[in-house]
Amino acid sequence: MSILKTENLTYIYGSGTPFERKAVDDVSLEIEKGGITGVIGHTGSGKSTLIQHFNGLLKPSSGKIFLDGKDIWENGKIMPGLRFRVGLVFQYPEYQIFEDTVYKDIAYGPKNMKLNDAEIKNRVLEAADLFGIGREMLNRSPFELSGGQKRRVAIAGVMAMKPEVIIFDEPAAGLDPRGRRSVFEIIKSYCRSSGCTVIVVSHSMEDMAGLADRIIVMNRGRLFCHDRTPEVFSKADQISAMGLDVPQITKVFELLRKENIIFKDEVYTVDHAVKMILEYLAEKGGDSGC
Ligand SMILES: Nc1ncnc2c1ncn2[C@@H]1O[C@H](COP(=O)(O)OP(=O)(O)OP(=O)(O)O)[C@@H](O)[C@H]1O
Ligand SMILES: [Mg+2]
Repeated sequence: MSILKTENLTYIYGSGTPFERKAVDDVSLEIEKGGITGVIGHTGSGKSTLIQHFNGLLKPSSGKIFLDGKDIWENGKIMPGLRFRVGLVFQYPEYQIFEDTVYKDIAYGPKNMKLNDAEIKNRVLEAADLFGIGREMLNRSPFELSGGQKRRVAIAGVMAMKPEVIIFDEPAAGLDPRGRRSVFEIIKSYCRSSGCTVIVVSHSMEDMAGLADRIIVMNRGRLFCHDRTPEVFSKADQISAMGLDVPQITKVFELLRKENIIFKDEVYTVDHAVKMILEYLAEKGGDSGC
């Protein structure tokens, strides 16, 4: 069952002006309920434009978007409550923090939903715990926090709305490797425990390899493919040709394949590579030494 569906979605910036630009071009796709979908593509391929349609921030130039089977722009009016049902975490969300305490910032969304104070408090504390935002931090100004901490506060604020679908636009941009891993781990565990549908936009095939169940690949505004992660990685050559970096480990396995050392699966994470090599050695009757 799909939760989000687009039908021939097209979006043109500056329509009718000399700056006209078709950013999303005739995209039809369906996103399944639950699980993590990655959206990848080269810079300017239309990823952010596409996902901003999912919560009604942009209105299609033509085509349709359905949430749970309902047209979100039926009769030209946006579906009521859509922004609470589909949460969007922008790139560098920390720049949108404006409340004077961490508590108020996380509470902002739930408050707009007109929840009562007890429920708001529950949600703030739950989201703060998930992100390792200690109670002592809740009364501090978010502006005193580090960049990574501010980002976690901003994401917690969207999660506190408990949307059915949550979209992250480049959630790890600008973070160091440890910060990246930590953001992805939180997203993963939140998705698994809440059953929420998660969409993550990224430039990095490497990051998506360990995170996404399915991947949408955008190329120059068009949908190149949308499939389960292993199937998408089986097109690694074509994806590299679009200017995206495939994981190093996938490149190593491509080279081995060219040397006629064939593994049964596509390999795109180091953990999976280890498993494949051990199986290969066992089949060969060799001793892996492990
Ligand atoms: N506000 C805007 N006005 C005019 N053109 C825009 C606007 N926003 C994006 N575009 C153009 O639309 C195309 C798609 O942009 P978009 O931001 O959706 O790509 P993206 O895949 O998210 O890129 P990135 O990886 O750099 O974030 C690009 O050519 C971009 O220059
Ligand atoms: Mg973008």
